[in-house]
Amino acid sequence: MADLSTTYMGLRLAGPIIAGSSGLTGSVKGAKEAESAGASAVVLKSIFEEEIAAEYAEALTDAKARGMSLESYDYYDYEIRGNRVAEYAELVRDAKKALRIPVIASVNCTYSREWTAFAKELEKAGADGLELNMFFLASDLARSSDEREKEYFAIVEKVRKEVRLPVALKISPYFSTLAQMITRLSRTGIGALVLFNRLYGIDFDVEKLSVTAAGSLSSPAEIALPLRWVALMANRVSCDLAASTGIHDGAAVIKCLLAGAKAVQAVSALYKGGAGAIGTMLKDLQSWMDRHGFKTLADFRGRMSQAASENPAVYERVQFMRQYGN
Ligand SMILES: Cc1cc2nc3c(=O)[nH]c(=O)nc-3n(C[C@H](O)[C@H](O)[C@H](O)COP(=O)(O)O)c2cc1C
Repeated sequence: MADLSTTYMGLRLAGPIIAGSSGLTGSVKGAKEAESAGASAVVLKSIFEEEIAAEYAEALTDAKARGMSLESYDYYDYEIRGNRVAEYAELVRDAKKALRIPVIASVNCTYSREWTAFAKELEKAGADGLELNMFFLASDLARSSDEREKEYFAIVEKVRKEVRLPVALKISPYFSTLAQMITRLSRTGIGALVLFNRLYGIDFDVEKLSVTAAGSLSSPAEIALPLRWVALMANRVSCDLAASTGIHDGAAVIKCLLAGAKAVQAVSALYKGGAGAIGTMLKDLQSWMDRHGFKTLADFRGRMSQAASENPAVYERVQFMRQYGN
């Protein structure tokens, strides 16, 4: 039997499939199911500062309606924030008690001081690693790309200074100079970059003329984006790469490893097929390795990265030109 073990952000993993952050990993039960199905690590559902802020706003409206004084607003803020962080730290502690695989906590903040405060709490709670789920929508006309990008570095630097845990950074592909951002971010001392987060999108209900949520689950075709970027960046980064988005079957796992990923993260596949989807992916990876005579992941990892290719230009091709008879 082929050896599926790997290392990822400084952690030793028994296999390359990680249950990515989602509602499914927001409870010990869900995380445990992923472990039983063969996940080699779990990224817990993120703690969102934005959600805490929304809860605070609600409490504020309520407090105002009841004619409470201004000082108590601060108290609310402090209390709500504290409760939420404590609840999340408890999830980390409970997951650590119940699981044998590494438990990675995930943080999404808006204000830079909070990233560090949250990270420290989660380190104390015993998380094995920390994934920073970082994205700022570039919709602010007053901010240049340079300003926006600097925030990523400032936050990573702060968190890295304050915690000793291995840190992964989960980013989106929406940067004007993506290759440069990926390489520069990889040199900040982080253990891994997760390429890419799939963001919540909006849709319109044209009958009710209201804004709705776009479909939340990915399709297998979406593997194309992380696959290209893992393959392009595999030999140009100073940290591990994990692929995320569109990993639905064993073939997708194999492709990402061939591109140079140390691990993959699956979410939509688990929503669609249950945690058991991980077992099927692992089985397919095993039998593919056996058929090709690969004994370890290192035997083929990165073999199809751009750097290893005899035809590197094909990885950068973006126009269809003469396809479909045109
Ligand atoms: C319902 C749902 C909840 C999610 N929640 C989080 C989250 O809390 N934090 C995060 O970093 N990503 C979250 N994601 C994004 C996933 O971790 C993942 O990056 C994305 O779904 C793409 O992977 P997939 O194609 O395997 O689904 C969520 C995705 C879904 C579908």
